[in-house]
Amino acid sequence: MRRKLVAANWKMNGSSAANAQWVASWRGVAPPCDAVVCAPFVYLPQVGAGLAGTSAQLGAQNLSEQAPGAYTGEVAGEMLLDIGCHWVIVGHSERRALYGETNELVARKAARAIALGLKPIVCVGETLEERDAGRTLDVVAAQLSAVLALSSVEQLAGGALAYEPVWAIGTGRTATPAQAQDVHAAIRAQLARGDAAAAQRTRILYGGSVKPGNAGELFAQPDIDGGLIGGASLVAADFAAICAAAA
Ligand code: PGA
Repeated sequence: MRRKLVAANWKMNGSSAANAQWVASWRGVAPPCDAVVCAPFVYLPQVGAGLAGTSAQLGAQNLSEQAPGAYTGEVAGEMLLDIGCHWVIVGHSERRALYGETNELVARKAARAIALGLKPIVCVGETLEERDAGRTLDVVAAQLSAVLALSSVEQLAGGALAYEPVWAIGTGRTATPAQAQDVHAAIRAQLARGDAAAAQRTRILYGGSVKPGNAGELFAQPDIDGGLIGGASLVAADFAAICAAAA
């Protein structure tokens, strides 16, 4: 039985004051799942300190594929570990679409995280155009294949995968539980072709307009093992309600 995992992706949101308020209202929450908060780089020390002693772990939203060195503006995985961060989102669709991250770069970042002992949450997902063209499973399989070329299923099982249809992110348009389950099952089948036992242990999260009102039916699907939550994670009470739906 896979323990559910619910991760907050704050994206480029937050402030010292707002973060302090968030962690203050999170204190005392006892979610029935693993919980991770992925904050912007500059706030990781603050949020990490605020989450200490709570049931949520700290995550980042990106990392460099490189070891520390002359890479202006980048943040190394070593630095994330140094400040107590254990999770990192890799290959979010906003990074793929807006910052040119290719399947190959995403794969290198996932491998880098794994090599350092960080747990990656590797994101995959199709655009609306790709879905309408009937290419969803091919697109997701290609994204996952690139990652599997550099990392084993066993290694990925230490972190998580996230299926996030691009057309459902921040749009208010959620994939139906059946649409999401279909893709999650295909992802697990692809993992199982590499390592059946590790595939059964791998948590596959759904992301895209998850809210307290729809989390329960999504999380009830057999291959949906939690969620990656954007907009609704900015309010601690809503994030806690989504975590509660993992029960
Ligand atoms: P959303 O974002 O919940 O705001 O749709 C999810 C994500 O992009 O991780």
